[in-house]
Amino acid sequence: MTIESIPVIAIDGPSASGKGTIAQLVAAELGFNYLDSGALYRIVAFSALQRKIPWHEESLLAEMIQTLKIKFLNGKVLLNDQDISEEIRTEAISKGASEVAVHPKVRNALIDLQHSFRQAPGLVADGRDMSTVVFPDARTKIFLTATAEVRAKRRYNQLMSKGIYANLDLILQDLRQRDERDQQRTAAPLTISADAKLLETDNLSIEQAVNAVIQYNSSIQT
Ligand code: DC
Repeated sequence: MTIESIPVIAIDGPSASGKGTIAQLVAAELGFNYLDSGALYRIVAFSALQRKIPWHEESLLAEMIQTLKIKFLNGKVLLNDQDISEEIRTEAISKGASEVAVHPKVRNALIDLQHSFRQAPGLVADGRDMSTVVFPDARTKIFLTATAEVRAKRRYNQLMSKGIYANLDLILQDLRQRDERDQQRTAAPLTISADAKLLETDNLSIEQAVNAVIQYNSSIQT
Protein backbone atom coordinates (compact mmCIF):
# COMPACT_ATOMS: atom_id res chain seq x y z
CA MET A 1 0.00 0.00 0.00
CA THR A 2 1.47 3.38 -0.96
CA ILE A 3 1.13 6.33 1.38
CA GLU A 4 -1.09 8.12 -1.17
CA SER A 5 -3.52 5.22 -1.21
CA ILE A 6 -4.14 5.36 2.55
CA PRO A 7 -7.48 7.16 2.97
CA VAL A 8 -7.63 10.40 4.94
CA ILE A 9 -10.74 12.04 6.35
CA ALA A 10 -9.78 15.67 6.90
CA ILE A 11 -11.96 17.55 9.38
CA ASP A 12 -11.35 21.28 9.76
CA GLY A 13 -13.23 23.92 11.67
CA PRO A 14 -13.03 26.61 14.33
CA SER A 15 -12.27 26.21 18.06
CA ALA A 16 -14.78 24.31 20.17
CA SER A 17 -16.80 23.16 17.16
CA GLY A 18 -16.82 19.61 18.53
CA LYS A 19 -14.33 18.46 15.87
CA GLY A 20 -12.13 16.61 18.35
CA THR A 21 -14.90 14.52 19.87
CA ILE A 22 -16.53 13.83 16.51
CA ALA A 23 -13.26 13.02 14.74
CA GLN A 24 -12.22 10.58 17.49
CA LEU A 25 -15.55 8.78 17.36
CA VAL A 26 -15.40 8.54 13.57
CA ALA A 27 -11.87 7.12 13.82
CA ALA A 28 -12.96 4.56 16.43
CA GLU A 29 -15.96 3.51 14.33
CA LEU A 30 -13.84 3.00 11.20
CA GLY A 31 -10.81 1.59 13.03
CA PHE A 32 -8.70 4.47 11.66
CA ASN A 33 -5.81 6.33 13.30
CA TYR A 34 -6.50 9.77 14.68
CA LEU A 35 -4.47 12.99 14.47
CA ASP A 36 -5.31 15.87 16.83
CA SER A 37 -3.20 18.52 15.08
CA GLY A 38 -4.37 21.24 17.49
CA ALA A 39 -2.65 19.31 20.30
CA LEU A 40 0.67 19.86 18.51
CA TYR A 41 0.26 23.66 18.57
CA ARG A 42 -0.82 23.37 22.21
CA ILE A 43 2.32 21.35 23.03
CA VAL A 44 4.47 24.03 21.36
CA ALA A 45 2.80 26.79 23.42
CA PHE A 46 3.12 24.74 26.62
CA SER A 47 6.72 23.81 26.05
CA ALA A 48 7.67 27.39 25.15
CA LEU A 49 6.12 28.60 28.40
CA GLN A 50 8.17 26.04 30.35
CA ARG A 51 11.37 27.14 28.60
CA LYS A 52 10.51 30.82 28.85
CA ILE A 53 10.47 31.28 25.06
CA PRO A 54 7.94 34.01 24.16
CA TRP A 55 5.16 32.91 21.80
CA HIS A 56 6.22 35.51 19.20
CA GLU A 57 9.80 34.15 18.85
CA GLU A 58 9.24 32.30 15.56
CA SER A 59 12.79 30.96 14.97
CA LEU A 60 13.38 29.92 18.59
CA LEU A 61 10.04 28.11 18.61
CA ALA A 62 10.88 26.27 15.38
CA GLU A 63 14.27 25.21 16.82
CA MET A 64 12.62 24.10 20.04
CA ILE A 65 10.21 21.84 18.11
CA GLN A 66 13.15 19.76 16.83
CA THR A 67 13.99 18.84 20.44
CA LEU A 68 10.48 17.74 21.47
CA LYS A 69 9.61 14.07 21.86
CA ILE A 70 5.86 13.99 21.25
CA LYS A 71 3.73 10.87 21.63
CA PHE A 72 0.01 10.13 21.62
CA LEU A 73 -0.74 7.04 23.67
CA ASN A 74 -4.22 5.69 24.52
CA GLY A 75 -5.78 9.13 24.21
CA LYS A 76 -3.03 10.75 26.31
CA VAL A 77 -0.57 13.39 25.12
CA LEU A 78 3.01 12.73 26.19
CA LEU A 79 5.82 15.24 25.99
CA ASN A 80 9.26 13.79 26.74
CA ASP A 81 7.39 10.88 28.40
CA GLN A 82 5.42 13.19 30.71
CA ASP A 83 1.61 13.13 30.50
CA ILE A 84 0.52 16.71 29.74
CA SER A 85 -2.99 15.92 28.44
CA GLU A 86 -4.73 18.15 31.01
CA GLU A 87 -2.14 20.94 31.10
CA ILE A 88 -2.50 21.71 27.38
CA ARG A 89 -6.29 22.21 27.61
CA THR A 90 -6.31 25.37 29.74
CA GLU A 91 -7.62 28.67 28.33
CA ALA A 92 -4.10 30.18 28.61
CA ILE A 93 -2.61 27.42 26.45
CA SER A 94 -5.52 27.70 23.98
CA LYS A 95 -4.54 31.33 23.50
CA GLY A 96 -0.83 30.44 23.23
CA ALA A 97 -1.53 27.72 20.67
CA SER A 98 -3.39 30.20 18.49
CA GLU A 99 -0.44 32.64 18.80
CA VAL A 100 2.35 30.16 17.97
CA ALA A 101 0.26 28.82 15.07
CA VAL A 102 0.56 32.08 13.10
CA HIS A 103 4.28 31.44 12.39
CA PRO A 104 5.12 29.71 9.07
CA LYS A 105 8.35 28.22 10.52
CA VAL A 106 6.41 26.64 13.37
CA ARG A 107 3.85 25.22 10.95
CA ASN A 108 6.58 23.84 8.68
CA ALA A 109 8.40 22.24 11.60
CA LEU A 110 5.24 20.25 12.38
CA ILE A 111 4.44 19.01 8.86
CA ASP A 112 6.48 15.77 8.78
CA LEU A 113 5.18 14.73 12.17
CA GLN A 114 1.60 15.22 10.94
CA HIS A 115 2.25 13.23 7.75
CA SER A 116 3.64 10.35 9.84
CA PHE A 117 0.13 9.72 11.20
CA ARG A 118 -1.04 8.57 7.77
CA GLN A 119 -0.89 4.85 8.34
CA ALA A 120 -3.07 1.95 7.24
CA PRO A 121 -5.95 1.38 7.34
CA GLY A 122 -6.64 5.13 7.35
CA LEU A 123 -6.52 8.44 9.18
CA VAL A 124 -9.00 10.92 10.59
CA ALA A 125 -7.15 14.23 10.92
CA ASP A 126 -8.62 17.18 12.78
CA GLY A 127 -7.44 20.80 12.67
CA ARG A 128 -7.60 24.01 10.67
CA ASP A 129 -5.56 23.22 7.56
CA MET A 130 -5.95 19.46 7.16
CA SER A 131 -7.89 19.81 3.86
CA THR A 132 -5.92 22.72 2.50
CA VAL A 133 -2.24 22.24 3.45
CA VAL A 134 -1.38 19.06 5.33
CA PHE A 135 -3.49 16.49 3.45
CA PRO A 136 -4.69 18.32 0.31
CA ASP A 137 -5.20 14.94 -1.40
CA ALA A 138 -7.63 13.70 1.29
CA ARG A 139 -10.62 12.09 -0.41
CA THR A 140 -13.04 13.21 2.28
CA LYS A 141 -12.93 16.83 3.44
CA ILE A 142 -15.31 18.23 5.99
CA PHE A 143 -15.65 21.71 7.45
CA LEU A 144 -17.35 21.31 10.77
CA THR A 145 -18.71 24.41 12.43
CA ALA A 146 -21.31 25.96 14.73
CA THR A 147 -22.11 29.55 15.67
CA ALA A 148 -19.74 31.21 18.17
CA GLU A 149 -22.57 31.35 20.76
CA VAL A 150 -23.24 27.62 20.55
CA ARG A 151 -19.52 26.81 20.68
CA ALA A 152 -19.00 29.09 23.71
CA LYS A 153 -21.92 27.43 25.52
CA ARG A 154 -20.46 23.97 24.80
CA ARG A 155 -17.04 24.98 26.13
CA TYR A 156 -18.73 26.56 29.19
CA ASN A 157 -20.69 23.38 29.95
CA GLN A 158 -17.56 21.28 29.46
CA LEU A 159 -15.56 23.35 31.97
CA MET A 160 -18.38 23.54 34.53
CA SER A 161 -18.93 19.78 34.33
CA LYS A 162 -15.26 19.35 35.27
CA GLY A 163 -15.82 21.64 38.27
CA ILE A 164 -13.83 24.47 36.66
CA TYR A 165 -15.46 27.89 37.20
CA ALA A 166 -16.17 29.57 33.87
CA ASN A 167 -17.59 32.86 32.61
CA LEU A 168 -19.69 32.49 29.46
CA ASP A 169 -19.14 36.08 28.23
CA LEU A 170 -15.37 35.79 28.59
CA ILE A 171 -15.33 32.43 26.82
CA LEU A 172 -17.32 33.91 23.93
CA GLN A 173 -14.97 36.89 23.74
CA ASP A 174 -11.85 34.65 23.75
CA LEU A 175 -13.37 32.36 21.13
CA ARG A 176 -14.12 35.28 18.81
CA GLN A 177 -10.55 36.56 19.20
CA ARG A 178 -9.13 33.13 18.42
CA ASP A 179 -11.46 32.70 15.40
CA GLU A 180 -10.27 36.04 14.12
CA ARG A 181 -6.57 35.16 14.57
CA ASP A 182 -6.99 31.68 13.03
CA GLN A 183 -8.87 33.15 10.02
CA GLN A 184 -6.81 36.28 9.43
CA ARG A 185 -3.27 34.85 9.62
CA THR A 186 -1.39 34.60 6.33
CA ALA A 187 0.06 31.11 6.94
CA ALA A 188 -2.57 28.42 6.37
CA PRO A 189 -5.56 30.40 7.65
CA LEU A 190 -8.72 28.62 8.71
CA THR A 191 -10.83 28.56 5.58
CA ILE A 192 -13.30 26.22 3.97
CA SER A 193 -11.74 24.60 0.93
CA ALA A 194 -13.84 24.52 -2.24
CA ASP A 195 -14.04 20.73 -2.21
CA ALA A 196 -15.04 20.39 1.46
CA LYS A 197 -18.49 19.51 2.75
CA LEU A 198 -19.91 22.03 5.21
CA LEU A 199 -21.42 20.44 8.30
CA GLU A 200 -23.17 22.81 10.71
CA THR A 201 -23.62 21.22 14.12
CA ASP A 202 -25.75 23.82 15.96
CA ASN A 203 -28.74 21.51 15.95
CA LEU A 204 -26.97 18.16 15.78
CA SER A 205 -26.15 15.82 18.65
CA ILE A 206 -22.65 14.34 18.68
CA GLU A 207 -24.08 11.04 17.47
CA GLN A 208 -25.89 12.73 14.57
CA ALA A 209 -22.73 14.60 13.55
CA VAL A 210 -20.65 11.39 13.68
CA ASN A 211 -23.25 9.61 11.50
CA ALA A 212 -23.30 12.51 9.04
CA VAL A 213 -19.50 12.29 8.64
CA ILE A 214 -19.55 8.52 8.21
CA GLN A 215 -22.38 8.66 5.68
CA TYR A 216 -20.70 11.40 3.70
CA ASN A 217 -17.42 9.46 3.75
CA SER A 218 -19.02 6.29 2.43
CA SER A 219 -20.90 8.24 -0.26
CA ILE A 220 -17.53 9.61 -1.46
CA GLN A 221 -15.78 6.23 -1.46
CA THR A 222 -18.40 4.52 -3.62
O1 DC B 1 -8.11 22.55 17.70
P1 DC B 1 -7.48 23.27 18.90
O2 DC B 1 -8.42 24.23 19.60
O3 DC B 1 -6.84 22.34 19.86
O4 DC B 1 -6.30 24.17 18.27
C1 DC B 1 -5.52 25.05 19.06
C2 DC B 1 -4.94 26.16 18.20
O5 DC B 1 -4.02 25.60 17.28
C3 DC B 1 -5.96 26.94 17.37
O6 DC B 1 -6.20 28.22 17.90
C4 DC B 1 -5.34 27.10 16.01
C5 DC B 1 -4.16 26.20 15.99
N1 DC B 1 -4.25 25.14 14.98
C6 DC B 1 -3.77 25.43 13.73
O7 DC B 1 -3.36 26.55 13.46
N2 DC B 1 -3.77 24.46 12.77
C7 DC B 1 -4.22 23.23 13.04
N3 DC B 1 -4.20 22.30 12.09
C8 DC B 1 -4.76 22.93 14.32
C9 DC B 1 -4.77 23.92 15.26
